[in-house]
Amino acid sequence: RTIYINGEYVAEEEARVSVFDRGFLFGDGIYEVTAVIDGKLIDNDLHLARLERSLKEISIPMPLPVDEIVKVQQELRDRNGLTEGVIYLQVTRGEADRDFGYGEDMKPNFIAFTQNKNLVNANSVKNGVAVDIVPDNRWARRDIKTVMLLGQVLAKKAVKANGFHEAWLVEDGFVTEGASSTAFILTGDNVIVTRPNSHAVLPGCTRRAVMKIIEEENLTLEERLFTVEEAAAAQEAFLTSASSLVTPVIRIGDRTIGDGKPGPITRRLQGIYLDLAR
Ligand code: PDD
Repeated sequence: RTIYINGEYVAEEEARVSVFDRGFLFGDGIYEVTAVIDGKLIDNDLHLARLERSLKEISIPMPLPVDEIVKVQQELRDRNGLTEGVIYLQVTRGEADRDFGYGEDMKPNFIAFTQNKNLVNANSVKNGVAVDIVPDNRWARRDIKTVMLLGQVLAKKAVKANGFHEAWLVEDGFVTEGASSTAFILTGDNVIVTRPNSHAVLPGCTRRAVMKIIEEENLTLEERLFTVEEAAAAQEAFLTSASSLVTPVIRIGDRTIGDGKPGPITRRLQGIYLDLAR
C-alpha cells in the first residue's frame, strides 16, 4: 500500500512517525473514516466538515484546505486501486518532547491510508448482527472524533469475546451509541428513534444521511433518549457508520429483535442508502 504522510506518498514500510508524536503519547489527535464504494467517496463532505470541526474543538489547525484533502484521498484511492473499502485520515497535534502542555508552534502530523474491505456484501450488512450492552466508560466529549479510543477498544473486545459484533454503550440506563456506530431502533407505531446529538455521542455522518432518507420517505423520526429495555423490546433495530453503512441489528444481548431477521423498514433504508451511494 501507498501511505500519505505530510505531503508525501510513500510505501507503507517507509511511513514513519516520531515516538514523540502527541497522538502516540497522549491520544492528542483527530481521525476520520470515509467509505469508498465502486471508487466513490461516500458522504465525504460530511466527514471533512466533521474533521474540521473536531480539529477546531481541540485547537489543531487543518493540515490542508478541504479541497486539498479530497485530492489526497483521491490520489491514495487511485494509487492503491481502491474500489471498495475505507480511507482513513489522521491529524495529530505534532511532535514535541513529552509535556502535557504544548506550544503554539506545533506542526500537525497528517497521515492517510486506505483499507480494502467488502462493505456492501459484508455478512453483517446482509444478515444483521447481534449487539451487547456495556457501560459507556468514555470521556465526556464524545462529539469530538479523537484517536483516544481505549473505551471503544475495551468495549468491543468485551463483546466480541462473547460472539457479539458490536457494543451498544449505556449511560444512566440510556443507550448512547455503538462503540463505532450510531444506534437506531424502531418502536411503537413505526417510529424510528435515535439519540439527539450532544457531547455524549459522535454526530454520525451516516446518521445524517439516513435521517435525510427517513424524511424523504415520510417516515417518522424521533430524536430522543431510549433505554436498554426499550431497545430490547423494539420491532427493529439497526446501526450506521461509514464502514458498516446501514447494518440490521437482530439481537441485543439475549433478546431477539422482532423475528430475528432484518426488519422491513431497516431493509428499505439500507436499500435506499446503498442506491444513493452507488
Ligand atoms: N466510527 N459513533 C462512534 C463512536 C463512531 O466511532 C462512529 C464511526 C460512528 C458513526 O459515524 P459515521 O457514520 O460518521 O461513520 C458513531 C468509524 C467508522 C471508525 O471509528 O472506524
